[in-house]
Amino acid sequence: MQAIDDKTIVKDYFNTKGFDRWRRIYGDGDDVSKVQLDIRNGHQQTIDKVLTWLREDGNLAELSIFDAGCGVGSLSIPLAKAGAAVYASDISEKMVGEAKERAKIVLADASQLILETKDLETVTGKYHTVICLDVLIHYPPKELEEMIEHLTSLAESRIILSFAPFTVCLMLWKKIGELFSGSSKTTRAYMHHKFDIMDMLEQKGFEIKRKDKIGTRFYFAYLVEAVRK
Ligand SMILES: C[S@@+](CC[C@H](N)C(=O)[O-])C[C@H]1O[C@@H](n2cnc3c(N)ncnc32)[C@H](O)[C@@H]1O
Repeated sequence: MQAIDDKTIVKDYFNTKGFDRWRRIYGDGDDVSKVQLDIRNGHQQTIDKVLTWLREDGNLAELSIFDAGCGVGSLSIPLAKAGAAVYASDISEKMVGEAKERAKIVLADASQLILETKDLETVTGKYHTVICLDVLIHYPPKELEEMIEHLTSLAESRIILSFAPFTVCLMLWKKIGELFSGSSKTTRAYMHHKFDIMDMLEQKGFEIKRKDKIGTRFYFAYLVEAVRK
């Protein structure tokens, strides 16, 4: 039997039940469970950390940025609001539709943010900074290298990635989570070894500049910024 590929599964998920789940998690309403609220807080810490890094550099308004797998615009919208020229794409048209609605409410200058439904691996062009947050978790290691290769090819100066780091504790935590949440609520999630990702970035001509870990009870991310050598 032909296995359905990961992208098809991810795209369908984020256009159907995943859309509803993540739209609420990435919102500010109280229509979330305690676990979802914890994930919302953890994810917001990742967003805030990236914004802090970029603001610290003091040149945000001069940058062109590609936000790969932008979701509902949690990062793209504040980046565009801060003056960066942002191109953001997501494989799910529902997520992009929601991002457009949210952008309309807060962005005075709509030209700062271009949002498109597109698989990140079909995006072309060059951007000063390429950012891809909490997307690699949806892909197995064999697809990771191609994705990172493509993303680095688009990055003139810098790439920022977040992913779920592989640890034995997390692996056990994930198994327990799957037992209780069942497969209906989630899509497949893959943890990645941080040294594999850092090696890939170095092989593509980047060096690690900043890194951080974000962890709440149910949200875990490793965040890495790499710049061209
Ligand atoms: C967990 S969400 C993270 C969204 C956003 N990066 C954030 O941190 O707010 C993962 C997103 O990645 C998108 N995605 C998954 N695979 C993708 C691909 N190949 N190209 C573009 N977007 C993708 C999904 O549709 C979903 O919106």
